Amino acid sequence: MTHQHIITTTVNYVKKTLADAEGGHDWWHIYRVWQVAKQIAKGENADLLIVELGALLHDIADSKFNNGDENIGPAKAQAFLETLPLAPNTIDHVVQIVANISFKGGKELQKFRSIELDIVQDADRLDAIGAIGIARAFNYGGFKNRPLYDPNLPPNLNKTKEAYKHNNDPTINHFYEKLLLLKDRMNTKTGKQLAQERHQFMEQYLTQFYKEWEGQ
Ligand code: ADP
Ligand code: NI
Repeated sequence: MTHQHIITTTVNYVKKTLADAEGGHDWWHIYRVWQVAKQIAKGENADLLIVELGALLHDIADSKFNNGDENIGPAKAQAFLETLPLAPNTIDHVVQIVANISFKGGKELQKFRSIELDIVQDADRLDAIGAIGIARAFNYGGFKNRPLYDPNLPPNLNKTKEAYKHNNDPTINHFYEKLLLLKDRMNTKTGKQLAQERHQFMEQYLTQFYKEWEGQ
C-alpha cells in the first residue's frame, strides 16, 4: 500500500465513523486539522505519514461523548491501524498522539511528546481560534443554549474544572477563559505564526462586537 492509499483508506474510515458526530467534532473539523497539520509539517523535520494519521484519527472517539473514558479513542485508532500494513512503531506513535493530544497544560506532565504530536496539537488548537474558532464557539454555546454575551457576567479567569462543567456562562466569556490564551501555547514556528494572525482576527472581532452591542 502506498502512502496515498493508506491515507485514502483512513479518510474513508474517519468519514464513516464520524457521520453522526456533532458540529464541533465532525469530519470537517478533522479535514481542517489535517490540512493545517500538513502545512505546519512543511516547516518541520517530521514523519508526514504519522502526522497525517494522527490528525485524521485524533478525535475518532472523544471521551466527552464516551462517559469520560479516555481509552476509547486510542483503542479505536489502534484497532483500525492494525488493519493496515504499517510498522508497529508507526502504529504506536499514532496511538500516542491520539492519547495525548488534548493535554490541557495544567500541573500534570504530558506523558508523551514528539514533533509529530506537537504539529497535530497545534493544528487542533488552531481550529479553536480565528474565524473558524469563533464559529465553533457560538455553535457550542447554541447547543448548550447559552447567551451570546451578558455585560453583567464577566469572564472568570480562575475557573475550576468543576465550575466549568455546570456553568451557563455567555459564549463571549469562553474567549477570555480559553481561546485568547491559545496563541501562547503553540509548539511550532508555523503554528505560532498562524495563531498570531487568527488571534488578531479574534481581537478585532471582539472590538466590533462590543461596538455593535452598544448600537454604534
Ligand atoms: P477539543 O477540540 O480540544 O476537544 P473542546 O471539545 O473542548 O475542544 O471544544 C470543541 C469546540 O467547542 C472548540 O471550538 C471550543 O472552543 C468550543 N467550546 C468548548 N467549550 C466551550 C464553551 N464553554 N463555550 C464556547 N465554546 C466552547
Ligand atoms: Ni480536535
